[in-house]
Amino acid sequence: MDGKETASMEGRPSPPGDLRVRDQCVYFHSSEEMPELLPGSVDVIVTSPPYNRGKRYHPSYDDHRPETEYLAFLERVFRECHRVLSPTGVFFLNVGDGAEDQGKSERVCRVAEAAGFRRRQTLIWVKSLLGKGHFTPSGRGRSFANVFEYVFLLVKGPGYRLDPKAVGIPYADKSNVGRYSPVDRRDAGNVWFIPYEETTGATRKKGHEAPFPVGLPHRAIRCVPGASLVLDPFAGTGATLSAADALGIRGVGYEPYPDPALIQRRIDTPYVPREEILIPDLEKSVRFLAARAGPLPFPEGPGSSQRKRERWRVVRDVIQRLGGD
Ligand SMILES: C[S@@+](CC[C@H](N)C(=O)[O-])C[C@H]1O[C@@H](n2cnc3c(N)ncnc32)[C@H](O)[C@@H]1O
Repeated sequence: MDGKETASMEGRPSPPGDLRVRDQCVYFHSSEEMPELLPGSVDVIVTSPPYNRGKRYHPSYDDHRPETEYLAFLERVFRECHRVLSPTGVFFLNVGDGAEDQGKSERVCRVAEAAGFRRRQTLIWVKSLLGKGHFTPSGRGRSFANVFEYVFLLVKGPGYRLDPKAVGIPYADKSNVGRYSPVDRRDAGNVWFIPYEETTGATRKKGHEAPFPVGLPHRAIRCVPGASLVLDPFAGTGATLSAADALGIRGVGYEPYPDPALIQRRIDTPYVPREEILIPDLEKSVRFLAARAGPLPFPEGPGSSQRKRERWRVVRDVIQRLGGD
C-alpha cells in the first residue's frame, strides 16, 4: 500500500451513508474533518464552496451566515485540504462574485492562503459567451449579468507540475510546430470557456442549486500529470467525481446533504469532452457553405505561393474541425 491510499481502505469501517461508484466515493459528512484521508495523499483538489448567498442546498443548511462565520468555516475546510494534499499537489478553487457580493471570491482566496496555500494564478472560467452557454440575468438593472467566475490555482510549494498542453489546442499557423516543441499543441491560456453540458430553462431544474459543469474539473484534473487521487470537499452533485471517473482516476468527495441518486446518476453519465463552437451562427454558416462547396482543391502550380498553401491548410483545418469535409 502506498501513501496515497485512503484511511478507510486500510481497514477502518466507512461511515454510514457513504456512496461508492466504482473508484469514486462520497462521505456524507462535513469536510471540516476528513479522517478518511491520509496526510499528503491527494494529488488534485477541485471544488466550489457554498456561496453564502442564500442558496437552498438543503433545508437545514444556512447559506446566509455572517461573513466572518462563513469564512471561519471555509478556513477549517481549507486547513484539512492543506493537510491531505500532497506537497506536489494542486488545488483548483472555483468561486464567483455575485452582483451583490463583488470581491467575495478574493476574500475566500485569502482564507485559503491563510490556511497555508500559495496562490499561483487566477484563471477565468467563462460560462457564457456570445449567447452560448449558461445565462442567469443577475444584474438586476444595476450591473451586467455575470458570465464568468474565478478559479484560483493554489499549491503547497514549488514542487508541483502542470501540463497546460494536455488541454491545449492545435496551432492555427502550422509553421509554429517545431518552434517551441515538435508537437502541434499550444497552451490555450488562462481563460477557460466551459459552458454547461445543458442549459436549463424555467421548466426544468438540475436538482441542485449550484453545480459546475463536469468539463471544469475534467479540464483541471487533466492538467496535473500523473494524478491518482482527486478530492472535492464540497461534492454537491458529484461533478468532480464524474470527471475523475471519466479519466479513470480515484475520487473522494464530502457532502453532508447528499442526494445519493443524483450523485450516482451524475457519476454514471459518461462524460465526453467536446470541442466548443464559440460563434454558433457563424460556424453553422461555414459548415453549410463548406458542405455546398464540396472538397477544396489544393492550390498548386507556379502561381501558388507558400503563403497561399498555408492559408488553404488553415481554412481546411477549420472546416474539418467543424465537421465539414
Ligand atoms: C457550490 S455547491 C458545490 C457543487 C458541486 N461543485 C457540483 O458541481 O455539484 C457547495 C456544496 O457544499 C455543500 N456543503 C455545505 N456544507 C458543507 C460541509 N460542511 N462540508 C462539505 N460540503 C458542504 C453544499 O451542500 C453544496 O452541495
